Amino acid sequence: MKMKAITLKAFGPPENMAIGDWEKPTPGNREILVKVHATAINRADTLQRQGKYPPPKGASEIMGLEMAGEVVELGPDCKKWKKGDLVCGLLAGGGYAEFAVIHEDLALPIPKGLSVEEAAAIPEVFLTAFQAIDWLAKLQGGEKILIHAGASGVGTAGIQIAREKGAEIFITASKSKHEVCRKLGANYTIDYQSKEFNLEIVKFTQGKGVNVIVDFIAAPYFQKNLETLSFDGRMVMLALMGSPKANTINLAPILRKRLKIMGSTLRARSLDYKTRLSKDLEKFAWSLFESGKIKPIIDTTFSWENVAEAHHYMEANKNIGKIVLKIT
Ligand SMILES: NC(=O)c1ccc[n+]([C@@H]2O[C@H](COP(=O)([O-])OP(=O)(O)OC[C@H]3O[C@@H](n4cnc5c(N)ncnc54)[C@H](OP(=O)(O)O)[C@@H]3O)[C@@H](O)[C@H]2O)c1
Repeated sequence: MKMKAITLKAFGPPENMAIGDWEKPTPGNREILVKVHATAINRADTLQRQGKYPPPKGASEIMGLEMAGEVVELGPDCKKWKKGDLVCGLLAGGGYAEFAVIHEDLALPIPKGLSVEEAAAIPEVFLTAFQAIDWLAKLQGGEKILIHAGASGVGTAGIQIAREKGAEIFITASKSKHEVCRKLGANYTIDYQSKEFNLEIVKFTQGKGVNVIVDFIAAPYFQKNLETLSFDGRMVMLALMGSPKANTINLAPILRKRLKIMGSTLRARSLDYKTRLSKDLEKFAWSLFESGKIKPIIDTTFSWENVAEAHHYMEANKNIGKIVLKIT
């Protein structure tokens, strides 16, 4: 059986993507088949499109790391869901399509009151931010956190998670994106294009620094991040947007301040890991989504016919929060 999906004629620019025919997936024993109503764009998709980020072994070749939609078929051993249920969840690939399969344990119910588009904007960035802030950095109430790229998808999720944990929040972002970050709960916003963020943090914290940093920029920020962390500080590195290679770094602050430097990815994690993370996020955040205290931040929703435009938009760093792709 065939379905429609975003296909790639060759690795390269966004214009290489188009809606085409693809084999419709069949759910395995404990998988559910979901009619995808919406997915969302991630930087990883833009890298995959260029041939720089191949899907992990066994994952769909189609782009798309998350989806929201309706359960339309159940694998033979599925017990948790029934046809017609509305779910969202993390995928290792395959979201840019009419249908996607997901293990029944990894699927999450769409929080009550949220649209499918909003639900599609949750999994990747909220799971990433929750993993970094809660599981890895173990942020505590009253601590200080610096979230780089505060207006990014992961950043806007991270600000809200840190706020709910009672932290004092510092972010870096381009100036035009500061107001949104403040509304979400950032206490201090730093325009990294006109100011040295490490000097600003020294000023704001009277030299004490921050307990936790969530970083996406890597090499260009590494030394400054080490200087910005307080004693027993923790840093989680999630991307290499600046550059992966640093020339000369003074590592002394790691010893002197007893720092923990961590890195993580989500896509290639085991099913067990992703399921436990999803369940923990559900426990932490679903009632907050349902009461409206936290929300997926959507910049723009594109129809999937305009997927090329959506990729260009992300690559131009225009978005604040998520870019959603509506599958029709
Ligand atoms: N490790 C993981 O598990 C994991 C999971 C999800 C995402 N990620 C990665 O995390 C990053 C953020 O993802 P996202 O979807 O939240 O991104 P996004 O919404 O596309 O936002 C990225 C923002 O980062 C800022 N930025 C870009 N290049 C920069 C640079 N060189 N220096 C400083 N700021 C820069 C830009 O905002 P400004 O206008 O403020 O500069 C840009 O809009 C991506 O690299 C993504 O691949 C990692």
